[in-house]
Amino acid sequence: MRSHYCGQLNETLVDQEVTLCGWVHRRRDHGGVIFLDMRDREGVAQVVVDPDTPEAFANADKARSEYVLRIKGRVRLRPEGTQNPDKSTGMIEVLAKNVEVLNTAATPPFQLDEHGKVGEEVRLKYRYIDLRRPEMIERLRLRSRITHSVRAYLEGEGFLDIETPILTRATPEGARDYLVPSRTHAGHFFALPQSPQLFKQLLMVSGFDRYYQIAKCFRDEDLRADRQPEFTQIDLEASFVDEDDIMAITEKMVRQLFNEVLDVALPEFPRMPFSEAMQRFGSDKPDLRIPLELVDVDDLMKGVDFKVFSGPANADDGRVAALKVSGGAKLSRKEIDDYTKFVGIYGAKGLAWIKVNDRSAGLEGLQSPIVKFMESVIEELLDRVGAQDGDIVFFGADKTKVVNEALGALRVKLGEDLNLYTQAWAPLWVVDFPMFEREDNGRLSALHHPFTAPSCTPEELKADPAKALSRAYDMVLNGTELGGGSIRIHDQAMQRVVFEVLGINEEEANEKFGFLLDALQFGAPPHGGLAFGLDRLVMLMTGGRTIRDVIAFPKTQSAADLMTDAPGEVSAEQLKELNIRLRQKATEQQ
Ligand code: AMO
Ligand code: AMP
Repeated sequence: MRSHYCGQLNETLVDQEVTLCGWVHRRRDHGGVIFLDMRDREGVAQVVVDPDTPEAFANADKARSEYVLRIKGRVRLRPEGTQNPDKSTGMIEVLAKNVEVLNTAATPPFQLDEHGKVGEEVRLKYRYIDLRRPEMIERLRLRSRITHSVRAYLEGEGFLDIETPILTRATPEGARDYLVPSRTHAGHFFALPQSPQLFKQLLMVSGFDRYYQIAKCFRDEDLRADRQPEFTQIDLEASFVDEDDIMAITEKMVRQLFNEVLDVALPEFPRMPFSEAMQRFGSDKPDLRIPLELVDVDDLMKGVDFKVFSGPANADDGRVAALKVSGGAKLSRKEIDDYTKFVGIYGAKGLAWIKVNDRSAGLEGLQSPIVKFMESVIEELLDRVGAQDGDIVFFGADKTKVVNEALGALRVKLGEDLNLYTQAWAPLWVVDFPMFEREDNGRLSALHHPFTAPSCTPEELKADPAKALSRAYDMVLNGTELGGGSIRIHDQAMQRVVFEVLGINEEEANEKFGFLLDALQFGAPPHGGLAFGLDRLVMLMTGGRTIRDVIAFPKTQSAADLMTDAPGEVSAEQLKELNIRLRQKATEQQ
């Protein structure tokens, strides 16, 4: 139907006949001449319709915003003074001979260039209109280029694209499962996969050696800007490999991707142990673009006359840390109050601070609500954090977890608010994760998933599970966890020990993962892999603020789809077929 996309027109086509198909982006009447800005996925072209072509003119006159038109005409240079060299189609226009209305359009719920005036809810309800915006088209186009580049790279490295089931059993990745009732097996449910983890391991047992998949994953968890209930992984697994192999393959993939798609040469990927990341940045996904670090001051605070600090300084599970911000003494009282509220979100009970106005003036040169309690250690403290005139030092004192989360988040917020970034891209690997973390109820849970290999023997693991480290690695970029993976357990005895430590008894282990334990007996090779969050990768590469911006049809914070109105109710008949009776309905019937 068309000869060119609107956005493809340029000076080289002057005097040529073209046929365009697209949407009316804007219509303007100018002294008897009608200007139509015609839009398609490649861009916008200006079409001029004048009354010499009465039929075309009449149709153009009928056209309204978002009507679908087909236009035949001749490309010509725009008159001097109306040219716009900033736009690829800005030097030319199309003089229409023929204007055909292919479809009309009701008044859209929002004008594309006024999308900011309506809330995200309206944009999500009419997502197909929101997706007409050039910015959205650009993001999805980049997403397509990214998956293309990734596939080409992995195929080139000998990875085979193999699909794994969506209707399956629970795959433990730490979230709740989405369940699907079975009609043919009354009272039984499928779970949607939280990841293809178990299947990719089984493919290694089969001998496929290198697998990849761009896989949909489903997790019923609390949603945030970088989490969706349904998301996509670039998932891969390989046999006869160690950590270095997987890290090298995937690092090269990301490096090439940035090169090809963004023309960016990523810097070195340093490797940082988990414990160091927590110590220095309060986070297992540190944003290394920000030059602020947490500094331990427990030893100095043990003896101070301020319980809020001496308590955690003397407690085993406590931490007192300082965060120095160069030039931060200019922060106002209101700004400090706002930061105090901000760390409150993470459970911090306050945010002590010292402004260093003039170090040479001793205590007189400091401004702070807490200095009076720590006069004897103040010089050592300021030396340790390297405080200079004009700086502010913030403090967190609490349980280690609270201090890390609060100051870790404050560090990122200060970096953003004060624009402290020292580089555009800061990738790293976080390694040497603990195998387990202790939950509030005292039980151990797997930090990654229970198939991750420890870096010790089964005996050592049993003896002191809380100390054991795993052979896991996460790739972090600009403070976002892009991907994570590990070398897996390929030995049934080790797998049983891990289940035991996790409090999963033999019966439960056999019931849930018997097929995996079985497979480990039949010649499982050493293997490992990694999965990237594709949505997060695209978000970072397009500069989106949430992964909703890079998913064509995302869900809301409450895991609903406003456009299709899913999840929806189902008929009583369907429920009966599935052998399900709703509790609420049941009460109503009583
Ligand atoms: P993990 O659970 O770390 O590992 O997930 C891998 C990557 O997937 C992305 N991700 C998400 N993205 C959007 N929304 C979500 N709800 C969400 N949850 C996770 C993150 C994360 O780094 N099977 C293992 C991988 C392996 O060991 O090979 C796994 O799924 O970017
Ligand atoms: P207060 O004695 O409650 O007036 O607190 C003195 C200063 O210490 C205030 O600036 C508080 O914000 C700060 N503060 C209180 N609790 C903590 C804490 N757990 N960690 C860091 N600073 C705190």
